[in-house]
Amino acid sequence: MSAHEPKSLAELNRQIAASRAEMPGSTHAVLGEGPMHAAIAFVGEQPGDQEDQQGRPFVGPAGMILNKAMEEAGIDRGKSYITNAVKHFKFIQRGKRRIHEKPTAGEVKHYRWWLQKELEFVKPRIVVALGATAVLALSGKALPIGKNRGAFQFGTLPGYITVHPSFLLRQTDEDSKEREYMAFVRDLKRVRALATAEPVRHVG
Ligand code: URA
Repeated sequence: MSAHEPKSLAELNRQIAASRAEMPGSTHAVLGEGPMHAAIAFVGEQPGDQEDQQGRPFVGPAGMILNKAMEEAGIDRGKSYITNAVKHFKFIQRGKRRIHEKPTAGEVKHYRWWLQKELEFVKPRIVVALGATAVLALSGKALPIGKNRGAFQFGTLPGYITVHPSFLLRQTDEDSKEREYMAFVRDLKRVRALATAEPVRHVG
């Protein structure tokens, strides 16, 4: 939480960038990217090794499969807003490798206020929770993805719950890889339809 209420996304980002990492060792905070008022905002878990090095969200293996699925679903990444629930990379060092570690509920809570402010500034039409950590950050509750997958209201913000792209990478056999990838693309197509739908007008 910040003592000083930011007046703009740029100011909020400066605060996040200057904050002390909850997870020691990460290079820097990885900020959200994309245009203000993007129709769709995607929220991931936390930056990975590549993201930490490059300082941009979803540029590693999970980002590659997300990009591919977005393209297939007709969503322009450049016109979308992409961010993470947690802004620093949490890992354990094994030799030269930095192995991703899931953030705790307390760490997610620590970054939650920033995420909420960020989305208030961006004002997307729909926010997509990619996986359980994003769902926890957006709803404040640990909800299972399987039971809640699909359209979901996050407070005042219309949303959509789907799997994290790294879930697709973890599939071991070709059939489930293909099946889960296609289900993810179907989700993104629904998101696109929801984001572009005309608001219902009440006549009379
Ligand atoms: N996984 C995430 O959740 N976010 C990233 O930015 C990269 C990988």
